[in-house]
Amino acid sequence: MKTYTIGVCLKAENNPFWSVDVRMGLEEASKKFNDVRLLYRSPERIVQIKEQEKILASFIKQKVNAIILSPSDPIKLIPIVKKINQAKIPLIIIDSKLEDKKKDGLNFTFIGFDDYKGGFETGELLKKKLPLDSNVAIISGYKIGSYTQRVDGFKDSVQHYFKVKEIISANFEEDEAYQKTKTLIQKNPNLQGIFCTSDNMAMGCITALFEINRQDILVSGFDATHVGKLALQNGKLYSTINTDPEGLGKRAIQTAREVILGHEIPKEISYYIQPLTKEKLHRLPKQVIIKREYKIVKPLSDLKEFDYGSLTESTECPIILSENMFEDLAPRIKELNADRYYIITDSNVDKIYGERLLSIFKEKGLNSKLFSIPAGDENKTFTNLNDLATKVLNEGVSKNTCLVLLGGGVVGNLAGFLSAILMRGIRFVHVPTTVMAQIDSTTGGKQAINMPQGKNLLGTFYEPEFILIDKNLIKTLSKREYNSGIAEAIKHGLCQSQKLLEYVREKEYDKLLEETIRLKVESIEADPREKKQGLILVYGHTIGHALEILSDHKLNHGEAISIGMVAAAKISYSLGFCKKEMVNLHEKILGQNGLPTKIPKYINLKDISKVLLYDKKERTQGVSFILLEDIEKVKILKGDYKIPVERKIVEQVLHSMQ
Ligand SMILES: NC(=O)c1ccc[n+]([C@@H]2O[C@H](COP(=O)([O-])OP(=O)(O)OC[C@H]3O[C@@H](n4cnc5c(N)ncnc54)[C@H](O)[C@@H]3O)[C@@H](O)[C@H]2O)c1
Ligand SMILES: [Zn+2]
Repeated sequence: MKTYTIGVCLKAENNPFWSVDVRMGLEEASKKFNDVRLLYRSPERIVQIKEQEKILASFIKQKVNAIILSPSDPIKLIPIVKKINQAKIPLIIIDSKLEDKKKDGLNFTFIGFDDYKGGFETGELLKKKLPLDSNVAIISGYKIGSYTQRVDGFKDSVQHYFKVKEIISANFEEDEAYQKTKTLIQKNPNLQGIFCTSDNMAMGCITALFEINRQDILVSGFDATHVGKLALQNGKLYSTINTDPEGLGKRAIQTAREVILGHEIPKEISYYIQPLTKEKLHRLPKQVIIKREYKIVKPLSDLKEFDYGSLTESTECPIILSENMFEDLAPRIKELNADRYYIITDSNVDKIYGERLLSIFKEKGLNSKLFSIPAGDENKTFTNLNDLATKVLNEGVSKNTCLVLLGGGVVGNLAGFLSAILMRGIRFVHVPTTVMAQIDSTTGGKQAINMPQGKNLLGTFYEPEFILIDKNLIKTLSKREYNSGIAEAIKHGLCQSQKLLEYVREKEYDKLLEETIRLKVESIEADPREKKQGLILVYGHTIGHALEILSDHKLNHGEAISIGMVAAAKISYSLGFCKKEMVNLHEKILGQNGLPTKIPKYINLKDISKVLLYDKKERTQGVSFILLEDIEKVKILKGDYKIPVERKIVEQVLHSMQ
């Protein structure tokens, strides 16, 4: 029997439960057909358009027999829909219409509820409930297809009976609907009903009405989300629209199979829609736990090329630029609802900021405690990791505990690593207190400790809940530590941004901070595992790391990579890749920022070669370096960013630098 593979890509926006319910419908219907096999590529969190595109492209590549798609922003997906059409793969779209684009010759079957009808029926309901000539208002989402239709349907049904006082386009967020409701009521105190085009917005609206004590106003929503149904149940929301996601799922799978088998089907199937009020609410939302499913599947020959590695889930990590950490951190952290908040800091930072932060946490009623590790990179060790883990575990940890990492790169890296492995991962936030940590080490999620064999050898990638940066915290930093951080900014400037070098010269910390973070994020996003352009992050670090170790931490990280960058520039010049001016520029800008450009006399040059592993067999081709041809211009050789350099050249350069 032939098996048909149907690729499924469901949006997970605004109302993740919706997708889960659609999926239940799909699963259930697929059990009826043993010739159908579903291939899910639906990230469980909010999906960026780019990700949906990638998923769809992978479906095309592996030539699935049909695709079921619920787009998060249908208009933006038009190019990929065209490609699916070209590949002649039947496409079933659920939920959102690409309606006005049909004339572009796009080909797909639409199964969905009718937004216009939903708006119309809501209007009909309100007509029965509100007196004639009542004042009503509409809070709508963005002015895009489905929301406009909801508004139109509603207007068409109520206009003869009511006065529609105002139509407000708010963002899809609760917050904005909340704000807009307050001004709306100020302007129109006699309002009797508000039609919101989504349950999310209705929630914001309800909150605002509660605060101003106007619960007499009827609020209706749309979409029958989890929160919407709960609000219906306790009488806060008058009505919503049930889009029956499970029914849609079932219908989609049946339709996909019909299309594959070449049966004639209508291009548009308007599915079940039902206004929902408290009286009709039979089924309460079930609690949905989203979990990854482990399933043994037999490999199908046509699935072989599928590149699982290229699909990533996106999570957001806000970087908050605060003017006053002591004011902003506690309220923000409270939102995480942790059972305990453990501040982790180092012995120096503890003396300056520890007590103050802890007492604020306590004042705000946060269950908190502070733990301190010995300061300095030489303490980023297994022993200290073990000590800290022991203290924290003795004090009590649950999956719901949150660590607050207050300090430089050392605290961030060590306790970030601890967060990743404590109970297989608990939440943490970064509050960086050094330039190095603010501009560099906290973004990117790299956590590690040093081992006797080398730096950062034990670690993982693990992201914080958020990063809160307060530039005032670095005021207490020594000049030397300040400069160390600036070395990383200069690195980004040389590799990626002339403008950043200007900010360094003008000593504009605010601009420098934002630009460096922006550049780091840009390279991480383009190349998260540092294989190609992401490698610029390690510019100057090859020799830099060797020097850091050989100096026995007398050179700090920034100082070591400063010398490493000069060495890289000189190597590039020796190989004829860049002009002498590049070397001069390196020496000048690093020197002006109090950073060393020569190798200290106490370091034995021969040892550098050893640390670089020139003596190991696999390195006979030469150790690789990231090299620059000019500012913002990385040397690429045969598509590779890593340029192998012979031992002789490296040694000549090192000699010239001591
Ligand atoms: N994960 C990454 O992507 C990444 C990137 C760059 C560096 N790093 C790591 O970060 C570490 C270096 O970071 P760092 O330079 O922040 O070192 P650090 O954490 O050791 O801080 C430097 C010194 O400044 C002190 N200090 C911190 N904040 C202070 C403040 N506000 N006022 C006064 N003193 C303060 C510390 O106690 C310490 O003595 C290295 O271990 C390096 O490997 C990691
Ligand atoms: Zn670095």
